[in-house]
Amino acid sequence: MVLERAQLRRVILCLSCEAGLLPEHPSTDGENRKQDCDEPVRKGDLNRQPWNADATANHAKTPTLVFDSATLVQIRLSFLSKCGGQATLDALCWMWHHGGEGENPMKNELCFGLIGAGRIGPVHAESLAFRVPHARLAAIADLKQPAAQAVASRCNIPKIVSSGAEIIADPAIDAVAICSPTDTHADLIVAAAQAGKHIFCEKPISLSLKEIDRALAAVESAGVKLQVGFNRRFDSNFLRVRQAVVSGEIGTPNLFHIVSRDPFPPPLTYLRPSGGIFLDMMVHDFDMARFLMGDEVEEVFAAGAVMIDPGFASENDFDTAVVLLRFRGGAIGTIDNSRKSTFGYDQRVEILGSKGKIASENRYPNQVIVSGERTVYSDLPYNFFMQRYTDSFTAEIQAFTEAVLEDKPIPVTGADSRMPVVMALAAGKSSDERRPVRISEVSA
Ligand SMILES: NC(=O)c1ccc[n+]([C@@H]2O[C@H](COP(=O)([O-])OP(=O)(O)OC[C@H]3O[C@@H](n4cnc5c(N)ncnc54)[C@H](O)[C@@H]3O)[C@@H](O)[C@H]2O)c1
Repeated sequence: MVLERAQLRRVILCLSCEAGLLPEHPSTDGENRKQDCDEPVRKGDLNRQPWNADATANHAKTPTLVFDSATLVQIRLSFLSKCGGQATLDALCWMWHHGGEGENPMKNELCFGLIGAGRIGPVHAESLAFRVPHARLAAIADLKQPAAQAVASRCNIPKIVSSGAEIIADPAIDAVAICSPTDTHADLIVAAAQAGKHIFCEKPISLSLKEIDRALAAVESAGVKLQVGFNRRFDSNFLRVRQAVVSGEIGTPNLFHIVSRDPFPPPLTYLRPSGGIFLDMMVHDFDMARFLMGDEVEEVFAAGAVMIDPGFASENDFDTAVVLLRFRGGAIGTIDNSRKSTFGYDQRVEILGSKGKIASENRYPNQVIVSGERTVYSDLPYNFFMQRYTDSFTAEIQAFTEAVLEDKPIPVTGADSRMPVVMALAAGKSSDERRPVRISEVSA
């Protein structure tokens, strides 16, 4: 079933009008188009399969409309509360984005179940519910029901359960988004793969290489797709840095630096199960090192310190760390991590090449510069990952959705999900033994 773009616009126009969002339709000729929409689209129409294009045929005049994404979200929310037609409106949005061409979009919608409604779960829930047009979030699970309920009501998720197993057992669900703690990931991946579900899993798969290999083997044998949440690969600044390396714009990369500092430390109870600074925090930067340089690291030399909170020492962890990386191609680089940066989330990258350098600075909520008699200053950068990396979180799960729907390769491979953990384990060994450690020394 193919709808023309103009018909789609009319349908969405009707929905928005009915939802009270557009009392008067904007139009290119300035006329009030309210009368075009006297025949509202009803729930029965929207749920009919295939979509009945004739239902919109009476809307003869088609105002030229451009909805921004915030308006679309509003339309969707209002419409959901009216008649629960999420799938159909998603399909309309999909077709609109694709110019009304292609197959019936109902076959091109990926139905997700999300596991874990803590810190990162709601970030992905909002992307799936509001920002990825051809995804649908049908269910959410959390051991803590109030946490799941809060996300469900905010994101209009119709089904709330308490365990990942219930999500995996649901035949209506095509893909799971695993956002529960790291020690649950491998078992959930294996169960989801065996149930034939595609899998988006937060980083890392596990702190143990054996567990990662068990999960990757289950994915391989089930033939499903798996993507791990190394979201920074999808950040537009870092993509531009990568492009400069790939295109040769800065020549051969010689020196590489990442600064990656959190605004404040996590509670001490978070530390032990997290695996410590190298596995929990620097694992993102290890992934960025491979991704941006396009080269593998062969040796790491790590040093850690406790400079912020003595509680880190009692948890056998560091709150401050530096790692020197030696790449196979001969380049060297550093990553520095701190659990506390008083001025906000400090996320910077620089690569020096034979023909120049490329640098990515912090991101700010605004670009304002205040100039006074003695100083020139700006406001602080984004405070933490939820704000700084919002777009990349959406882009990564959108890329996963498209890779599944269009049967394309997943942009973050199984090897990509494993190697940063190998590097983190090597860094831990290096700081314990106070010597450079070759990657080949760390095995499963
Ligand atoms: N990509 C990133 O930038 C990023 C940021 C934060 C966290 N993470 C990763 O996301 C994962 C979750 O981290 P978080 O900070 O959101 O943790 P969290 O503790 O805030 O939330 C985890 C939630 O999962 C629930 N849960 C635990 N076991 C469960 C189970 N078996 N079934 C269903 N629900 C269960 C908990 O009740 C909790 O609400 C970790 O692997 C972490 O490394 C990634």
